[in-house]
Amino acid sequence: MADEIKTKATMEKIVSLCRRRGFIFQSSEIYGTLASCWDFGPLGVELKRNIKEAWWKDMVQTRDDMVGLDSSILMHPMVWQASGHLKNFSDPLVECKKCQKRYRQDELEKQECPSCGGELGEPRQFNMMFKTYMGPIEDSSAVVYLRPETAQGMFVNFQNIVTSTRKKLPFGIAQMGKSFRNEITTGNFIFRDREFEQMEIEYFVKPGTQDKWFEFWVNERFNWYKKLGIKPEHLMLRQHCKEELAHYALGCTDIQFYFPMGWGELEGIASRGDYDLTQHANASGKNLKYIDEEAKEQYLPYVIEPSAGVDRGVLAFLCDAYDEDVADGEARVILRFHPRIAPVKAAVLPLSKKEPLATYARDIFNNLRKDWVVQYDDTQSIGRRYRRQDEIGTPFCITIDFQSLEDNQVTVRERDSMQQIRIPVAELKATLAAKLAGEPISQGRAVWKTGEK
Ligand code: GAP
Repeated sequence: MADEIKTKATMEKIVSLCRRRGFIFQSSEIYGTLASCWDFGPLGVELKRNIKEAWWKDMVQTRDDMVGLDSSILMHPMVWQASGHLKNFSDPLVECKKCQKRYRQDELEKQECPSCGGELGEPRQFNMMFKTYMGPIEDSSAVVYLRPETAQGMFVNFQNIVTSTRKKLPFGIAQMGKSFRNEITTGNFIFRDREFEQMEIEYFVKPGTQDKWFEFWVNERFNWYKKLGIKPEHLMLRQHCKEELAHYALGCTDIQFYFPMGWGELEGIASRGDYDLTQHANASGKNLKYIDEEAKEQYLPYVIEPSAGVDRGVLAFLCDAYDEDVADGEARVILRFHPRIAPVKAAVLPLSKKEPLATYARDIFNNLRKDWVVQYDDTQSIGRRYRRQDEIGTPFCITIDFQSLEDNQVTVRERDSMQQIRIPVAELKATLAAKLAGEPISQGRAVWKTGEK
């Protein structure tokens, strides 16, 4: 089945484009890099921000049943004891007795076995939480952990949020932020890192209604990726079998994406029951029950958890958008990002560096950049400049020529179709706003015509 899916993206092409154009660099490169840590460059940071902002807007800002949270990365060690992470958040590790290389036992079949031909030792459980010390004394009483998921911050704040917002079930808490896992094996660029970002929702429901809400969230999240332009044939749902379920989960469905190395998890939607609230209520001695005034009863809500990886989202949006074609007899690389995701929304391209055109173009640029991330480029041929913008996924290029000085009109060129319209400068902002919000290119008063000149 996988062979039938078309993608022009290879990991080599994506990694090279990301480095060349300033999306993603390896961490600490001048010191020989730090494995599985990545720096998001000028375009990468915009792309990542757009993904997070789209998630926040669609999942929090525009919903009545969701509130946000930004909890601390370092939490009381009891949190991880109660959640089960200290005991269970581990992978089976095996070490080669000869070369000391370490492997995840459950992934050994997929990897090459020790090339040195050495014998493997007995598997042991390796806890993936990063440990550090709080304060100046490095003893066992000062041990704290970098959070391996953002989720627990939402469970331990459940009562604070119910009390302060007076939210009624069903409602959710959403948060995004860094998580850290000392993964035994990392790789495939930013797919599996040791430091990464998550966008997570804990959606609290009345026990008995969890199946309905589980289905709702699987659909909601699957459709979100489609709405933001991911091709449906690159997305798939995969239900976990009982043996694979995490220690807390009653059920779990992954949203998978067709990455260059094959299908991989982009987001997991888990039905967590009342596991976490029960654990925290027992360990803290606090009453975390929800008072249902309508039903005149108290209970611990059940939880549905849609948990997405930001970095995996970045990789998926990059791979899905990657395309190559020929324009005016010249090969071009295009990132066909949805306008909401595109790091740069428009580029202002004056046909000459000379005055008074330069000042005229600069004024337009300065006006547009108040609302969007916009680039100004006045170097090399216009064809070259279009190619440069196509390669970073800029949806619109605005060309300004000497005629513009006469008639106050500019040419707007659309990335995917390469169609062009000539519109009055006075209409530029409104036209761009409509197109960036997703209005089809065929709509609107202006007539688009094809041609690169
Ligand atoms: N709170 C539930 C939870 O953390 P998970 O399936 O372990 O569930 C959720 O992680 C998402 O976080 C994954 O679907 C993935 O997108 C992302 N993720 C997990 N580990 C990661 C890693 N080492 N590097 C990058 N992303 C990761």
